[in-house]
Formats: sequence, C-alpha cells, structure tokens
Amino acid sequence: MKQRKFRSLHSHFISKYPKLFLCLLVSVLVLFSCSEKRAIKEQEKYGEPHRPQLHFSPDSMWMNDPNGMVYLDGEYHLFYQYYPDSTVWGPMHWGHAISCDLIHWEHLPIALYPDSLGWIFSGSAVADLQNTSGLGTANNPPLVAIFTYHNNTNGIIFPQSQGIAYSLDKGRTWSKYAGNPVLITNELPDFRDPKVVWHETSHKWIMALAVKDHVAFYSSFNLIDWNHESNFGFEVGEHRGIWECPELLKMEDEGGKEKWVLFVSINSSGPNKGSGTQYFVGDFDGFNFTSSQKQIKWIDFGSDNYAGVTWSNVPKEDGRTLFLGWMSNWMYATVVPTDNWRNAMTFPRELTLTEDNFLRSLPVRELELLRGLEYKTGPFQLDGEFSLADKVPFELYPVELNLEYETNSDAILEIILSNSRKEKVVIAFNAVDNTMIIDRSKSGSVAFSDVFYTTHVAPIKQGTRVGDIRLKSNTQVQMLIDVSSIEVFVNEGETVMTDIFFPSEPFKQITFQAVNGNIKIEKASVYKLNSIWN
Ligand code: FRU
Repeated sequence: MKQRKFRSLHSHFISKYPKLFLCLLVSVLVLFSCSEKRAIKEQEKYGEPHRPQLHFSPDSMWMNDPNGMVYLDGEYHLFYQYYPDSTVWGPMHWGHAISCDLIHWEHLPIALYPDSLGWIFSGSAVADLQNTSGLGTANNPPLVAIFTYHNNTNGIIFPQSQGIAYSLDKGRTWSKYAGNPVLITNELPDFRDPKVVWHETSHKWIMALAVKDHVAFYSSFNLIDWNHESNFGFEVGEHRGIWECPELLKMEDEGGKEKWVLFVSINSSGPNKGSGTQYFVGDFDGFNFTSSQKQIKWIDFGSDNYAGVTWSNVPKEDGRTLFLGWMSNWMYATVVPTDNWRNAMTFPRELTLTEDNFLRSLPVRELELLRGLEYKTGPFQLDGEFSLADKVPFELYPVELNLEYETNSDAILEIILSNSRKEKVVIAFNAVDNTMIIDRSKSGSVAFSDVFYTTHVAPIKQGTRVGDIRLKSNTQVQMLIDVSSIEVFVNEGETVMTDIFFPSEPFKQITFQAVNGNIKIEKASVYKLNSIWN
C-alpha cells in the first residue's frame, strides 16, 4: 500500500518537474562519484611506496619526535614535531592526531605554531584535572602542553626556554599562555624537551628537562612557576652525545614494588650508533632521582626508535605504561627515500619492569584489531630452508610473525624477508654468542646514507621464561613486519630491535633458515595484518 503511494508520488513529481528531477539525479550521481573518488584518493594517499601500513606517519611532510602524548576522555592524543612546508626538518610545529584504540589515527589540524618566542620543540602534555594552573575551570579543567621554545631569529641561536599552552576543548584548539616563557636559562644552548608528571606524594608537578649532558628536575604547583630541584646523570650512563627527551615515570615492577624509571634519549651514541634511548631504574623522593645502576640499559637495540616517551593520564583501571618512539635515526632521517612525507612512529608498546630492573616492551594488545587470516605450523625440525610464502594462503605483507624455537648451542636461525629483486633483510638469532643481528645491507635503497647499510646487534638470552623459570633452550620471538620496518620482540619483550628499510618492491617472502646446526621450530604462526588506514 505504502509502496504504491510512493511510486505514484514519484511519477507525479517527475512529470511535473522534469528539469528539477534531472538536476537532482545528476547531483546525486556527481556526489556519489566524488565520494568514491575521495575514498580512492585516500587509499592512494597511504598506499605510496614505503608508506607504513601498521604505523602512524604524517599525512605529508616532515615528522620527528612524538610530543604531548596524553589520554583524555577516550582519546589518545599524539602530537609530534612537524614541519608542514618541507620533507626535511625546519621551523618546528606540533602536528596532531588522535586515536581511540592506539591503532587507527585521525589527523587533526596543527596544534601549535611557532611564534615570536621561537619554534615549538619537543615537550609533553598533561590533563590538569584539578585546574592547578587556573587556565581552565573546576568544571572544565584544561589540557596543558609544556614545550620548548627554540629561538634562532636571523640565524642567531638564543638560549632555549619553556612555554605552555592550554586547551579547553579536548585538544581541538590551543591558546598559548600570555606569560610565556615560563622557564628560562641564560647560559646553555641545550635546555629542552620538558616531560611533566604529577607527583602524588608531594602534590606537585615534576618536570624532567634535558640539559646537554644531564637531566634537570624542576617542580611546580601550577605548571607556571617552576623551581629547580636537582640534577642527575653527570657521571652515569652513555655520554658520547647530547641528552634529549627525558622522561621520569613511576612503575610497579613485576613483584609489585614501586620504582622510578628515567628515560634519556641520546644522540648520537645509541647501541648501534646514532640515536638511541637509555634508561635508569631508581627512586625519586619528590626532589632527587637516585639510581645505583652501573650498566647502560637500552629500551631498544635497533637503529630506529628515538625520543620515545609514554602517554600520561592513562586511566588507573587500564594501568598500562604505554610507549611510542620516533621510528628513525638522526644519522639519516632527513634523507630516507620517501616522497611526500618523511618518517613514522614505532608501533605503540606496553612497557613492564622486571624485578631485576629491566624494561620489557611488547606491542600493545590492540594489535589484535589488525589481525586477519592466520597460518600456523610446527613443531618441525628445520633442515636448511623453509619458505612461508609456499605454504601460506595469503600475501605475507604486512604481517605479524610469532615463533618459538629450540636450538643447540652452535646453530643460527635466520629469518629472511625478501622480494623478487633479490633484496632482503636478514634477522639472525645466533646461539653461539647469544645475539640477534639485523642485516639490512641488501635491503634495497641503502646508498642515501653511508651508515644505513650497517648491521645491528643485540644481546639476547636464548630461552623462554615461564613465570620465573627460564626454559633453557626455547626462544620466543614476535615480529611486526611492515612495508618499510621490522620490530622484533624477543622473549616477551626482554630484547627489542626496530629497524627501517626501503626495498624497491615489498618483501612478500619470508624464509626460515638453519645455519650450522639443528633448530627445532616448536611453533610458528603468521597473521595477515590489515592496514591502519582502512
Ligand atoms: C630530538 C630533538 C629534541 C628537539 C627536537 C627538535 O629528536 O632534537 O631534542 O626538541 O628534536 O625537533
């Protein structure tokens, strides 16, 4: 009945207004084809050669450090060092993106622009829930960003200073504080990268600041007036390079004991040269950070994880320490062979602390959201070569590979990513000297820098932990293999390596190879991963 009525209304309308009908029809068709075109354009946009499919990268142009990582009302904010006018580093802005699952990102307009006080260098953001700054109200407390001003007017470099900005609309728009800068120095050229944390016991904000060769701690009751409390690091840790992007954070170790951890990025004497991030485990009493650590400890032994910090204000019910770093290295970041954008972030990671004071990192569990088809195999004895591409009924690109193997003491397990042009990345697990090695020397485009081809080495313990017990000869490996990067997590994240690469055609083959002895693959599984841009 209803249908018949609609049909007659329809034909009545067409006969009465034929021109109007035609016009409407054409606009609907145009609109439809436009939105289809837009969808295709988006796909093309994030489908350029080397564009990461599992990792955040800017829509276009230059990106370095993650900044201002803060969670608020269901959204993870990711700001980042951004230069919107070029694919090489320049006058720094804060780019901005949000995600509700740490995996899929929405690009938002630039949050902070340079002003008369300088370019906007790295820093952090906090949810000032008690409105200690007075920049919001009790009912609408502000998000406050704390960043470094880098002033090099007319090529003259002035001392760096710290400024703040605030947002009253969940980070959508930002106002700079009228009294900026809030923290200055007269002498030092390097005075930067404030990361601020709330210290519950003393009811104060604590800022960790990188000052050339040490970390300075400042405290404040309102994020505006800052007092110098102490310094750390003159005598300890790696010092062949400049200290940058520190973070002081509280963590509970796996035994439930509260400890304080200090991250310090260093450029350029990372574990495999260039940029890297070291950490110290110790205690913080509201004034001083102390640590009896003698050994130099690295968050990641690969070449491409720098300036990483954690999200603040993660809800207590969640309780995770969520970390993300810049997936590049100052040795070559400005010349990597991508066209309309440069650089990406690591996959977000959950950090935990062992009772003997080592950090472990693993991809966040939200990785599951990307998982598609799975192929499983094992146990089997690996004799010579085993090609996954021959077995797996889907394209090996991009994928997550999980592996557990057993080896005698003189064998090497190689995992080889390759393409039809004979380009490859080899990840080797060497039981002779307990190392993991990533060799990207034949990975495609390497000549853009004279250090990119080098191999990277990390110490690993061969053997999987089950609770506190280490099963002597089992090693467990998780790998995230994207279009232009690999992240390897060994033994539940005890050792991590992140490396980027630029093959002329994607690596769609994965081969296991046993060298010099017997390897038993206890189990292996590979998941096809969906793109984060879908
Ligand atoms: C680290 C760093 C920071 C600085 C920023 C400038 O990569 O050098 O120390 O704030 O990059 O873009």
